[in-house]
Amino acid sequence: MLVVKAEESLTCALENPVISRDPGALICFLDQEFDGQLGLLSEFPLLIGCANPAGSWVILADQLPVSHAAWRPITLLSHARPIRAVGIGLVTTHSDYRGRGLAGQVVNACLDAATGQGAEVAFLFAETRKLYSELGFAMAGRERLISLNKDYEPQKNVREAFEPDATALLPLLEDHPLRARRTPDEFAALLSIPETHVYVWEEANQIRAYCIEGKGRDLRGVIHEWGGDARVLDPLLRTVATLNPRASCVLGPADQEPPLDDESSIEPLAQFKILKPDVFGTADPCSLFGNPETPPTLPIYIWGLDSV
Ligand SMILES: CC(C)(COP(=O)(O)OP(=O)(O)OC[C@H]1O[C@@H](n2cnc3c(N)ncnc32)[C@H](O)[C@@H]1OP(=O)(O)O)[C@@H](O)C(=O)NCCC(=O)NCCS
Repeated sequence: MLVVKAEESLTCALENPVISRDPGALICFLDQEFDGQLGLLSEFPLLIGCANPAGSWVILADQLPVSHAAWRPITLLSHARPIRAVGIGLVTTHSDYRGRGLAGQVVNACLDAATGQGAEVAFLFAETRKLYSELGFAMAGRERLISLNKDYEPQKNVREAFEPDATALLPLLEDHPLRARRTPDEFAALLSIPETHVYVWEEANQIRAYCIEGKGRDLRGVIHEWGGDARVLDPLLRTVATLNPRASCVLGPADQEPPLDDESSIEPLAQFKILKPDVFGTADPCSLFGNPETPPTLPIYIWGLDSV
């Protein structure tokens, strides 16, 4: 019976991309088709669901989603000026419908909607493939990946953070010149993602530095955000590496003083598409944001929690 239904729906006329109006059907579809694991709504609290009702674009067949992409506006703060960016994620097509250009159509619908609302740049975190390069995305930006040496005597000033600490962390994040703008509510929502472990360095009841390992099913074992007093970041990160057995590396901006002097490499940051080339004088993301070989003309950085 189910097989007949699937074959029937394959022959259904596919509609043009529309904004998703059925959150229940969307979550069901994503949990089944993205990677087969449940819980995406809790892992992308700002991208899908009630926080971003107009962000999810779907192609429907028989009124059910068969392809999806979501976008949300994110302001990137650079030395020069704020950049109106859009993060795109959860690009997913039903396994019966892949290879027919549906993901390309839903991502394009997101780009059109975002451009219509003034976005200048789009980014996504995904493996490079024709799907994205045909839409004009290219890997660009620079990120430092530092290996963590685990041979260290843990320091007593480090503890795991709990919810009320969130308000103390935002000013430490805001000390970074390169980052995405985040409101306190957005920060709190991102910290509520399962398997997001926050550690702080505390002195005299004051949080001096913090770092974050993990983000749902992503970034396991990776410390993908850190901030605060440069003098205590090194012992904080080394202590976390001993307390948390899965923590094995640290990510951060390539063109900022690293928090540790351990062995590191420079990696590309994400895939970018310039939506308003006239604003930047180029349509090439590498010439703007650099890449591992070339320094940027407009430096930017996207911390792990902001990866949509
Ligand atoms: C990745 C994914 C979204 C692609 O969906 P899709 O609808 O098959 O994507 P498209 O059909 O637009 O593009 C897929 C490929 O088919 C090619 N293609 C597009 N239209 C085509 C057509 N009419 N005929 C032949 N090939 C076509 C594209 O160039 C692309 O090539 P690539 O595999 O080298 O990139 C889908 O495989 C999926 O849901 N995977 C699981 C979730 C996931 O990993 N998402 C990405 C991370 S956010």
